[in-house]
Amino acid sequence: MAVVSTLLSALPPVSTLAVYLVLVVGVVFAIHILSQLIIPANPKQPPTVFSWVPLLGNAVQFGMDPITFLKDCQKKYGDVFTFTMVGKRVTVCLGADGNQFVFNSKQSLSSAAQAYNHMTKFVFGPDVVYDAPHAVFMEQKKFIKAGLNSDCFREHVPMIVEETENFFKTYGNSGSFDAYEAFAQLVIRTASRCLMGKEIYNNLDGSVAKLYYDLDQGFQPINFIFPNLPLPSYRRRDVAREKMAELYSSIIQRRKEQNDTDNSDLLQALIDATYKDGSHIPDHHIAGMLIAVLFGGQHTSATTSSWTVLELAAQPELVKALLQEQIDKLGSVQADLTFDNLKDMPLLEACIRETLRLHPPIFQMMRKVVADKVVFEKYNLEIPKGNHLCAAPGVTQIDPVYFDEPLKYNPYRWLEKSDPVHQMEQGDDANIDYGFGAVGISSRSPFLPFGAGRHRCIGEQFGYLQLKTIISTFVRTFDFENLNGKVPGSDYTSMVVVPQHPAKVRYTRRA
Ligand code: HEM
Repeated sequence: MAVVSTLLSALPPVSTLAVYLVLVVGVVFAIHILSQLIIPANPKQPPTVFSWVPLLGNAVQFGMDPITFLKDCQKKYGDVFTFTMVGKRVTVCLGADGNQFVFNSKQSLSSAAQAYNHMTKFVFGPDVVYDAPHAVFMEQKKFIKAGLNSDCFREHVPMIVEETENFFKTYGNSGSFDAYEAFAQLVIRTASRCLMGKEIYNNLDGSVAKLYYDLDQGFQPINFIFPNLPLPSYRRRDVAREKMAELYSSIIQRRKEQNDTDNSDLLQALIDATYKDGSHIPDHHIAGMLIAVLFGGQHTSATTSSWTVLELAAQPELVKALLQEQIDKLGSVQADLTFDNLKDMPLLEACIRETLRLHPPIFQMMRKVVADKVVFEKYNLEIPKGNHLCAAPGVTQIDPVYFDEPLKYNPYRWLEKSDPVHQMEQGDDANIDYGFGAVGISSRSPFLPFGAGRHRCIGEQFGYLQLKTIISTFVRTFDFENLNGKVPGSDYTSMVVVPQHPAKVRYTRRA
């Protein structure tokens, strides 16, 4: 007791402590601000965006409205600049050349795993995706891509139609609903049914829903910055991942024991696949890959379907044209939608593309520099080890250099091909195979909602198929409009860009 009181008496009074504290904080701020103004910038490196707050840097501006922030920086600093986000130095590379520089960077120079794995390994589990050696991850992508093939898609379309019809049956003849909430619920059903397996799908209203929810709570922007805090949500995430892995293991075991192999889901494709060395894929890899697929496809497709409906709701003549397209191609809006007839609906496809151009769910993608430096030759700039490289297709996709009237939702631009983007040279890197088949698009394209290069999405075809089936079924079923008369703004606070609340759609069932 005596020691404590002696120590306390040695401390300055509280008011003096507060003054010291304010002084220290003031000095730290002053050093941070003055150092940016006084110390000459290294001309070999990209310019650094000014910030007032040490460590936090530009995180608040970026977090609240990243597209405006990046466009403002572009005006001030050009296509390549570095900003600070909670201690991370992020070098943004804009424009078609910026996309190409980031997406085509060699593995030995910059790494997606180093940028993402600190967060994803807790959700997907060990030895898969960014936690696997790069070559193994590419093989895993190959398995997933092979499992998403035309034969399966043929079976998937009627399943998605049935899910969509059943989902909206409960909506009655008229009313209103929140677009993102509704489509998130629908997509979890369609994606689970087509990809995750009937066992998971049949349990969606039971324990699986809670596991999905807990995993999802561990896949938020906060987890990117603080991947492992001693908080209940982090513990629930870990428990859910373990339970999910156990659940998959028991499902795989049962399918093998009962010779239940005639399934069109991705789970079956992974059970049947073997690694290059001939070994079967271990159960925990299968579980991890399926969780990764769920997270890759769920929120992205949910937000894209809700944005599409919100944009269509503002343009009734487009809805009419979509219905007319169905009548022209199928004879009537009662005819069955199939994998083959959905391929022949250019306006429907253009609507999805236009949504992905204007509202890309993932508007920026990161890599971490792992070499001593990387050199962006076009600008003769060096980006040092430890910086993150950031490509932002969300900015190039609304750049008037590539698209006329870029903020207008105009699906016909994809049919008329009159935008400047169609006249520009892109590159022959679309044919490169990084281990999961040809990438399919040049990394110099300004339109990259599915990324490019070795980390390009392998769910694009399934994504389009699911979205086209859902949207065509929805427009057949309802007449609809935006409840508050306009398309809502974007909310950037979750992992994908979603419509700001309220995003309500008023609907009337068609006769
Ligand atoms: C990668 C977007 C649907 C699985 C990506 C990337 C983007 C993207 C932008 C590149 C990430 C990066 O470079 O850092 C989308 C969009 C979707 C969609 C907009 C739907 C509208 C899906 C679906 C699946 C999926 C349905 C699974 C069936 C993956 C996987 C990767 C990926 C496995 C690879 C990640 C890597 O190699 O680092 N996706 N995705 N995605 N996506 Fe998708």
